[in-house]
Amino acid sequence: MITLKSAHEIELMRRAGEITAAARAVARDMVRPGVTTAQIDKAVYEFIRSQGATPSFLHYNGYPASVCVSVNDEIIHGIPGKRVLQEGDVVSVDVGAYIGGVHGDCAGTYPCGKVSDENMDLIRVTQQSFFEGLKFAREGYRISDIGHAVQEYVERHGYSIVREYVGHGIGHNMHEAPEIPNYGKPGHGPRLLRGMTIAVEPMVNAGSAAIINMSDGWTVKTTDGKNAAHYENTILITDGEPQILTNPEKSLV
Ligand code: MF3
Ligand code: CO
Repeated sequence: MITLKSAHEIELMRRAGEITAAARAVARDMVRPGVTTAQIDKAVYEFIRSQGATPSFLHYNGYPASVCVSVNDEIIHGIPGKRVLQEGDVVSVDVGAYIGGVHGDCAGTYPCGKVSDENMDLIRVTQQSFFEGLKFAREGYRISDIGHAVQEYVERHGYSIVREYVGHGIGHNMHEAPEIPNYGKPGHGPRLLRGMTIAVEPMVNAGSAAIINMSDGWTVKTTDGKNAAHYENTILITDGEPQILTNPEKSLV
């Protein structure tokens, strides 16, 4: 069931979204050579707790950390640990924060030091594909119009869209209906209505779309070993322009 959020719930989600966006900025600012992914996790945990919120991912289905850090051919759900970031790495971070009974969820991919032009292009196209989808996140369109726009943009740039993982409604639960694929024909799925809150999150592979699930039970990698990128925001459907609740520009830090 897709829930429409009340004005009060939307205010709560704005607060959760602000903290989540700020936590992403904390992680982003730690992406540099020599930093371990566990150090990023600790900083994100402490930041989220300092805001009076709880990390949404910690213990979610047994996930052991507050942030996902996915490096190079890791697409999503990389578990922080001893890995030391290297110059040239492509680093995706994904965070969620829970406060006031609601969640925020956002992700971004950042260069570690200087990365190749090819990797910068992958990062930029992935981020822009979110904004291409956002153009259709309005009343009058349907869910699949978002994914269609994302897919068109990504494939036009020679990259591929991951199919096995999708965006989602979000609110009192991190994952709510509807599912929001980053691909498909336009004009399908539920109609978008004001008061819906959704997380749109393209996962883009530089090479083939094929994925492989690692034996740690979480990490998802590209099968061909080429790099991947991820970009996600929690957004609110309104009677006009969509609003980004995890806005990087309105970040607390
Ligand atoms: N942003 C991811 C998602 O939307 C976060 C899930 S990671 C998990 O599914 F560890 F919490 F599962
Ligand atoms: Co998500």
